[in-house]
Parts: sequence; structure tokens; C-alpha cells
Amino acid sequence: MSDTRPIGVFDSGLGGLTVVRELFRLMAGERIVYLGDTARCPYGGRSEETIRTFGMQDALLLMEMDIKLLVVACNTVSSVALDYIEKSVKEIPVVGVVLPGARAAALRTAERKVGVIGTAATIRAGAYVRAIQAQDPAIKVYGKACPLFVPLVEEGLLDHEITRLTAQYYLAELLDSGVDCIILGCTHYPLLMETIQELVGTRTHLVDSALWTAKEVKDILAALGGLSPEKAGGLAASRFMVTDYAPRFKELAASFLGGTLPSIELVGLEKLTKLCETAAAV
Ligand code: DGL
Repeated sequence: MSDTRPIGVFDSGLGGLTVVRELFRLMAGERIVYLGDTARCPYGGRSEETIRTFGMQDALLLMEMDIKLLVVACNTVSSVALDYIEKSVKEIPVVGVVLPGARAAALRTAERKVGVIGTAATIRAGAYVRAIQAQDPAIKVYGKACPLFVPLVEEGLLDHEITRLTAQYYLAELLDSGVDCIILGCTHYPLLMETIQELVGTRTHLVDSALWTAKEVKDILAALGGLSPEKAGGLAASRFMVTDYAPRFKELAASFLGGTLPSIELVGLEKLTKLCETAAAV
């Protein structure tokens, strides 16, 4: 059995392309339909209500495209609004990034002390804490919001003194608490993996939620007999949509994806807003 329909992936912006990169690494035959809400990015400093509304609009747009599975690649939306989206999207599996990362961390921590770094909204929502402690209630979880990491990545300062100093500032508390595992709970942070690893040392395990999410997607599709045959997919067969073209768009997309995007479509925000109104009226 196989299913050649695409996998839908959305994020507040381009960061979710780190998840797309892992999906292609594991499943070269899949096609992706990606939505990056670049016009309203970042979501991480917004209220829960706004994050829920934006996340729902993003999900509904992708649901119009005959997808076989929906990936909520944004950690902020996964932390704040996954249940909310799951209630509306019942026809297909919905995969967020929190649970796969939490499971991986619970397996890796020998000291039973896990750090989570993410946007302010992600840390405030506490979804990682709940998901890790559902695996093992004895694990202590230490969250730290790192709001400066997203703009540093978007400025391309991946290997820069400013980023190293910022990482030292944010991570000092976590390291003092004795964590032996840190979840990179934001789409942008896998691009800072080397800088963070250098700072925390090789004895601290870094969990990349993007990688574990891709594994979960593969397992779900395999169990449903829904994987695509090898020839059907890949980057060139996929579709990428954004709500605004940022000036450094292509450059940023290439650093997130590790390859050039084929073509990019612009979706007007009014379309997203209308979809949510229609859903609310039904
Ligand atoms: N995509 C967001 C996340 O993973 C980071 C950027 C934002 O704040 O919107 O949490």
C-alpha cells in the first residue's frame, strides 16, 4: 500500500524548513506542501489566543490541499495550540514537535534532568514539561526562554561571538542546574547546534526536535501503509508557500533547508483569515 498525497507542514516562518530537511532525509519519496507565515513571524512573543488563531488558520489552509498528514513544525504552536488544532483536524494524523522531542530526551537523560530552550510562549505553555514528565514523572525539567536566538539565526550569525555570548548568558542557569540533556525546542535552534554543543560540552546531549518529529512521521505513515514510493517526491516535486517575501528570503531558506527552494508562492493573509471565519461559522 502507498499514498502519494503530500505531507502538509507549517511554521510561523521559514524555521520549519529544518523539519522539512529531516523529512526528506528520512523519506526521499515524499512530497511536501509547506506554509510559512512569514508576514506574521515571529509567533513566539505573542499571546496564546493569537497563536491559537494563527495556528488554526495555517492548519486550515493546508487542509484544503488534500494532504495525508499534518506536521505542526512550529514549537510555539505545538506547545500552545496542538490540542486545539487536533480537535478541528480529525480526518488525518496531526504531528507536533513537542512529543517526539520529549520522548527522545526522556530516553537520553541519565541524571533525570532535562533542559528545554524555546520561545517565551513555548516555555510559558509548559507543554514540554508535561510531555517529558508523562514519560517519567521523576525527571526534573528546567525551561529557559531564549528570545534572541531567533533573530540571531535570521541574521545569519550562526558562528559569531555575539551568538556565543548570548548562548552563555541564556544557558548558564541550565548548566548550573546539572541538566545532561537539552531540547532545542524551536525551529531555528538546530542551526545553532554546533555553537551550543561547544558551549555545553559533549557530555550534554542536545535533542533536535526536528529530527525526532521526522522519525515519528515516518513511523505513523509506515504503520498506516501511507508512505510514498521512492520516485514520487523530493524537493522539486514539493510546494512552498509564504505570506510575505522577506528581502533575504532565498538565502535564509537555503540555510534552513540545506538546498534551494524550487519556487515560492505568495498566499494573502486575507485568505487565511477567511478560512478561519468559515470554519467558525460551520
Ligand atoms: N517557529 C517558532 C518556534 O519554533 C520560532 C519563531 C517564532 O517565534 O515564530 O517556536
